[in-house]
Amino acid sequence: MNQIGVGLLGFGTVGSGVFHALRSQEDVIFRRTGTSLKVRTVLVQNHEKKRIPDVRSILTTDFSDVLKTDIQVVVEAMGGVEPALTYVKQAMEMGLHIVTANKELVAKHGVELERTARRKGVQFLCEASVGGGIPVLGTLLHFLKSNRIYRISGILNGTTNYILSRMSDEGDSFEQVLEEARRQGYAEADPTADIDGFDAAYKLSILGRIAFEADVPVSNIRREGIRDVTALELNLARRLGYTIKLLAVGEQYGENGPITLGVEPTLLSITHPLASVHGIYNAIHLEGDVVQDLTLVGQGAGDLPTSSAILEDLCNLFVLSPPKRSLSREPLLLPEEQRGGVRF
Ligand code: NDP
Ligand code: HSE
Repeated sequence: MNQIGVGLLGFGTVGSGVFHALRSQEDVIFRRTGTSLKVRTVLVQNHEKKRIPDVRSILTTDFSDVLKTDIQVVVEAMGGVEPALTYVKQAMEMGLHIVTANKELVAKHGVELERTARRKGVQFLCEASVGGGIPVLGTLLHFLKSNRIYRISGILNGTTNYILSRMSDEGDSFEQVLEEARRQGYAEADPTADIDGFDAAYKLSILGRIAFEADVPVSNIRREGIRDVTALELNLARRLGYTIKLLAVGEQYGENGPITLGVEPTLLSITHPLASVHGIYNAIHLEGDVVQDLTLVGQGAGDLPTSSAILEDLCNLFVLSPPKRSLSREPLLLPEEQRGGVRF
């Protein structure tokens, strides 16, 4: 049996979701992959917080303890740039693979981290960083290789979609729904990232980098959040047969054409396919020259959907043929022993 040790950074919504999902899916993962994934250590900030008994014996607040444990992969679910960036770099320098849900880290430092991963012959995977449970990065990288993608449009933030849907459909107040999104674990630690469109911009930057094979800095993304969308506007839109969604759009027409990217509240006719995407759901519409168009819809936030993406990255690391995902144009160099693994 292939026993893989996992170091988990963070035990909040995502980290605890991964811990539980690795247990509940242990049999199915083993049956399908021959691999047993065991969380051997969990890094948190506050040792005094109440946690489930099963995790208490493997908790630490000192990252160096994680590196001393017998692990092959680090799952980063802390959020923010620092200290996540430092920890991820240190782990890769020690030859550990990385799986992360942290879109801010990937959008701002993904290319640099991928370079480190290549240099060290480890993998840096981030499916959970965009679209929660929707396997959109895998779809772009593995199933649309022959397509030139010229447009990406979508609802990339669950919290703001939840707020707009509830304000529009139920007449609830902005503050009331935001509070609920925080309680459910959908919102970022600092929900300004959701409300002001930063989170959607990070995700659009990651998607754009892969789809358009170009550097797409977050600072180049036009951004407006939902702070100024009022109940009156939502009501009026509704009466006129429209709805308002926080849409992220990236476009590149022509091989070397300019890339334009933006996140902003957008008026959509209720007959538009994205208008019926409610609540915590995300949707990503991809347009390419061969596939024409394709829409992926699913839960964009929450412990289990996000854990699904992380578990898939973990399984792909050790079992399937090596994932050839790259945020940059350079070819991904794989360690000798991982080249040409089992192919399905
Ligand atoms: P939470 O705030 O729920 O959890 C964060 C965890 O990280 C906590 O356990 C916290 O410790 C720990 N932590 C934070 N800072 C430090 C630090 N400096 N040192 C040690 N531990 C630290 O966040 P989420 O689980 O919601 O999100 C985690 C990441 O996943 C973020 O990057 C987020 O953007 C991303 N993500 C979140 C989704 C969601 O639905 N929530 C979906 C997809 C991605 P303690 O428990 O002691 O406070
Ligand atoms: N806060 C994010 C959202 C979590 O609401 O979409 C998922 O990335």
